[in-house]
Amino acid sequence: MDTWENLRAECLACQGCSLAETRTNVVFGDGAEDAEILFIGEGPGQHEDEQGKPFVGRAGKLLDDLLEMVKLDRTKVYIANIVKCRPPQNRDPLNVEQDACIDWLRRQTDLLQPKIVVCLGRIAAKAIIKKDFRITAEHGQWFEKDGVQMTAIYHPAALLRDVTKRPDTFEDMKAIQAKAKELCEHTEF
Ligand code: URA
Repeated sequence: MDTWENLRAECLACQGCSLAETRTNVVFGDGAEDAEILFIGEGPGQHEDEQGKPFVGRAGKLLDDLLEMVKLDRTKVYIANIVKCRPPQNRDPLNVEQDACIDWLRRQTDLLQPKIVVCLGRIAAKAIIKKDFRITAEHGQWFEKDGVQMTAIYHPAALLRDVTKRPDTFEDMKAIQAKAKELCEHTEF
């Protein structure tokens, strides 16, 4: 059985795909190790690669704002990514990179045992919820997998590019809060 300590140490030494050659830091994840809500992004960008923490750039600031809207913050949730190392030029992570990396997230999820999983954007939703997930049509909808409630919202970077998507995301965040109030046992709002 993993511990957070052994999992993090193993992950930080990963050479499982070629992103290991160009990364500055592995971005393992951040938040409460007993969080009931898990947010999953796509992969680190430049700032995350430099600092070794997820969502610390502009998109991260927007994610903080979204969390704050529903009285959450990084100390109450867990934030991880599909791939732990930055794809060069912030391109989408390749399937081969996602496949090489997904076991780290699976082991993180096994340790956390979250009640709710929130995918941030299309790439995470396709990897976690279903292969043919359509973010525009299906954001905010709930899917159950192995007893865990899952949903997806627009990626914060998409909300920076297109402010017209923000009202939908505010609604989705309120629905996430309602679901969390129903299912979570120790998360405080
Ligand atoms: N975008 C992501 O998907 N993840 C991060 O950690 C930062 C930006």
